[in-house]
Amino acid sequence: MINLDPVRWASALGLLLAYALMCAAVLRGRRKQSDAGGPADWLVVYASQTGTCEYLAAQTLATLQTGGLRARSASMDDLGDADLRGAERILFIVSTYGEGDPPDSGARFARMLAQPGAPLAQLHYAILAMGDSSYSNFCGFGRYLDAALQARGAQALFERVEADRSAPAAIEAWQHHLSHLAGTSDAPDWTAPAYAEWHIANRTLLNPGSAGAPVYRIALAPAAGALPNWQAGDLVQVSAPGDPDYPREYSIASLPADGCIELLVRLHVRDGGVHGVASGWLCQQAGEQDTVLMRVRQHRRFQAGENAARPMILIGNGTGIAGLRAHLKSRIASGQYANWLVFGERNAARDHFCGAEIDAWQRAGAIESVSLAFSRDGGEPRYVQHALASQTNALREWIAQGAAIYVCGSLQGMASGVHDALVAALGQDALEALDAEGRYRRDVY
Ligand SMILES: Cc1cc2nc3c(=O)[nH]c(=O)nc-3n(C[C@H](O)[C@H](O)[C@H](O)COP(=O)(O)OP(=O)(O)OC[C@H]3O[C@@H](n4cnc5c(N)ncnc54)[C@H](O)[C@@H]3O)c2cc1C
Ligand SMILES: Cc1cc2nc3c(=O)[nH]c(=O)nc-3n(C[C@H](O)[C@H](O)[C@H](O)COP(=O)(O)O)c2cc1C
Repeated sequence: MINLDPVRWASALGLLLAYALMCAAVLRGRRKQSDAGGPADWLVVYASQTGTCEYLAAQTLATLQTGGLRARSASMDDLGDADLRGAERILFIVSTYGEGDPPDSGARFARMLAQPGAPLAQLHYAILAMGDSSYSNFCGFGRYLDAALQARGAQALFERVEADRSAPAAIEAWQHHLSHLAGTSDAPDWTAPAYAEWHIANRTLLNPGSAGAPVYRIALAPAAGALPNWQAGDLVQVSAPGDPDYPREYSIASLPADGCIELLVRLHVRDGGVHGVASGWLCQQAGEQDTVLMRVRQHRRFQAGENAARPMILIGNGTGIAGLRAHLKSRIASGQYANWLVFGERNAARDHFCGAEIDAWQRAGAIESVSLAFSRDGGEPRYVQHALASQTNALREWIAQGAAIYVCGSLQGMASGVHDALVAALGQDALEALDAEGRYRRDVY
């Protein structure tokens, strides 16, 4: 005989009701685009540092729209608590940085989520978490976001999808869910842009005799056809023969007007002396006849954008000078000379990469101010954050005159040290305000 336990019946009914409400919410979201014009039914929110999640968000949006859904996308930067309380369906695509931290564009939102907030029972959401399992806190921000939304009563449309190093199987799982939501199998092509073939035209060791690992300036020219277009701040991805499925990223140090892509690559030497796969290939193994597979990636967050007309404080260490050099070249070419470069490395005599060029720019008045910090030139180690801390007044003046701050180089040590120095000089609130205005930008790795 069937046991009619009232408690189990009540919970089963509750589950059924919740499922019915969720289906209704999904179906309401399937309103056709023909009645578009009002606000979007679906929001695709991305938190991206170097553009992967932004690219996937664009593909996600296109898939929803192909299915006739009214959808729009937004960077997490632009999302407030009121948007969360007002939205019924959000698809989040987020990466993780540092040690389980949100990317810069998710930092403010993460701080907001950490505060108590109104219930979000109306919100149905799904998360695509991009990460890399070689970091100890795999998909840390995606997991944090999921837990925080659940704690406020939001309901997951389906289980969080986690992609390790952009694993195709995980991306396919996400696409599969989207096809269901959008009621279409007619999804746009999600394949990443193809790699192009390049040749190394020139490779110069920039720091002979350095106490650190060698850094090379590597100029690459297309094997055939014209140069692609790019802007200062953009990156390339290199697919090395030893690990073709896991591209490595490098900041572009040149402009299209230079006629080639220049990278500054530090040879990575692992414990035991083995060279890194990609840096070993670029710095040592690849010869002039070899084909380097490479593609340009827009890095919108680190492009000049609206900051082009502002004074700029460019802060970096080591190979971080690559991205800063492209910005300096671009700004100088357009007559924007309000530049303050803060650069650090080990020894002035060996490691002042691009030093002659920087000196020449400064002599010509194209860089107003250069602050250098060499950590191994005797005395107490001095890093870029110390150079900043010793010039608090100048820093405040530049910011008062509307300057933007661009930071490029090491995530460990440099980026947090610089951040702390900026907080000490300007105050936490002021730095957050600069970040919200898009005047504090980082390309750190
Ligand atoms: C946005 C961004 C911009 C960047 N810009 C620059 C730049 O301008 N210049 C620059 O020089 N670098 C840059 N990098 C770093 C660059 O992408 C590479 O990470 C770096 O060159 C090392 O890659 P590799 O293949 O040589 O080393 P890998 O072979 O990846 O080794 C690096 C580390 O990975 C681990 N590892 C990986 N595989 C193994 C394995 N099989 N066994 C043991 N350990 C392993 C080890 O800890 C090792 O020390 C940037 C990174 C990012 C994210
Ligand atoms: C400096 C750095 C730190 C990272 N830290 C983590 C981490 O702690 N956990 C993780 O899962 N992934 C980590 N990743 C991997 C990124 O989240 C992953 O590459 C993601 O696809 C990047 O997406 P984005 O380009 O949209 O920012 C890190 C990547 C870099 C370059």
